[in-house]
Amino acid sequence: FDVVDIIRTKRDGGELTPLMIEWMIDAYTRGIVAEEQMSALLMAIFIRGMHRAEVGEWTAAMIASGTRLDFGDLSRDGRALATTDKHSTGGVGDKITLPLGPVVASFGVAVPQLSGRGLGHTGGTLDKLESIPGWRADLTTAEMFSQLSDVGAVVCAAGADLAPADKKLYALRDVTATVDCLPLIASSIMSKKIAEGTSSLVLDVKVGSGAFMKDAEDAAELARTMVGLGLDAGVSTVALLTDMSTPLGYAVGNAIEVEESLEVLAGGGPADVVELTIALATEMLRAAGRPDADPAAALADGSAMDAWRRMIAAQGGDNAAPLPKAGETDVVLAERDGYLVRLDALGVGVAGWRLGAGRARKEDKVQAGAGVRLHAKRGDYVRAGEPLMTLLTDTPESFARAREALDGAVEISDVQPDASPLILDRIG
Ligand code: URA
Repeated sequence: FDVVDIIRTKRDGGELTPLMIEWMIDAYTRGIVAEEQMSALLMAIFIRGMHRAEVGEWTAAMIASGTRLDFGDLSRDGRALATTDKHSTGGVGDKITLPLGPVVASFGVAVPQLSGRGLGHTGGTLDKLESIPGWRADLTTAEMFSQLSDVGAVVCAAGADLAPADKKLYALRDVTATVDCLPLIASSIMSKKIAEGTSSLVLDVKVGSGAFMKDAEDAAELARTMVGLGLDAGVSTVALLTDMSTPLGYAVGNAIEVEESLEVLAGGGPADVVELTIALATEMLRAAGRPDADPAAALADGSAMDAWRRMIAAQGGDNAAPLPKAGETDVVLAERDGYLVRLDALGVGVAGWRLGAGRARKEDKVQAGAGVRLHAKRGDYVRAGEPLMTLLTDTPESFARAREALDGAVEISDVQPDASPLILDRIG
């Protein structure tokens, strides 16, 4: 193939053939296609879009760039184990993976969660879990299989051989303004989830200021595309569309999100975190052939907490060790009496990021204790001078920029807002 011809085809609004896509992804992964050529193609895709068939072929080519795991032989006590996973498109305060894996695993279903680190204003599951002393994200494939069979729940980093084309492409998209492109997002997420080998998948597609997709129509389109890609690859896939215009729970950070997850696992915790955990667990258990299972019961009777402790210990984590705390705090107060009608996810997410909970570049380290602890949620009545949130960091020079991120993120009004649903739609 002539790379320039392929770029020109997409630049002029044409459709790439399966062979063009297969060749291009393979040649790029092996370093034969230059970064500037792939950059040009990505921008052409960003502007022209891709047909559904092209997205499927792009996804298949990314899966084929590495190895696809297969959990078909997974068993416990001689019985085959079903596998199921959840993927969230990313949000603020989204710690759902932490309680969810153990809840589902407590019913004897295996949950292989290959997760990432955070970039930008949304947190990463591995960053959160790494605040637990001793816990490690890097497991060999053999360790992952044995933990799935013994404990059922695993959260670990994806190995270098899982969709390597996506690793390279995502880094390039990050520096070429081509991340927020529906076909590229759908194929990036689904190539990793299909290569991971789960037999069923529940997608939590976020909508709102703190999400990739700011409006419901775009989010629904992303969800439909991803569900279709999953089904085409033989993975039983459904999606929930959920609100991300305001943070989930009261904790946005790393260690403080683990702490909040522990409250949920102990049968308490914030209502929205519990609601979403149960909704996603219900979908995962249904997809794994356990429609009878009651996830709320697993939270109430301690079986989910037991599965959590075993999962953490299996990866070297110390369940008894205190979680790290930030050294410095700064309290943001309500300026007037009234209803909190706006508590913007993006503003709070960026504040947490600037305080050190997130990273701007892949190489950056995150602070375990940093973040934002909310004292009120959207819809609550607050009084002037009451604490609205506490900013947490080890680097107090970041307080000023965190407060800037919160400019316009909070609005207090005399009019009580309507309660807005957390779960907006189900696609699949
Ligand atoms: N998450 C991914 O893994 N890929 C994207 O393109 C966007 C979000």
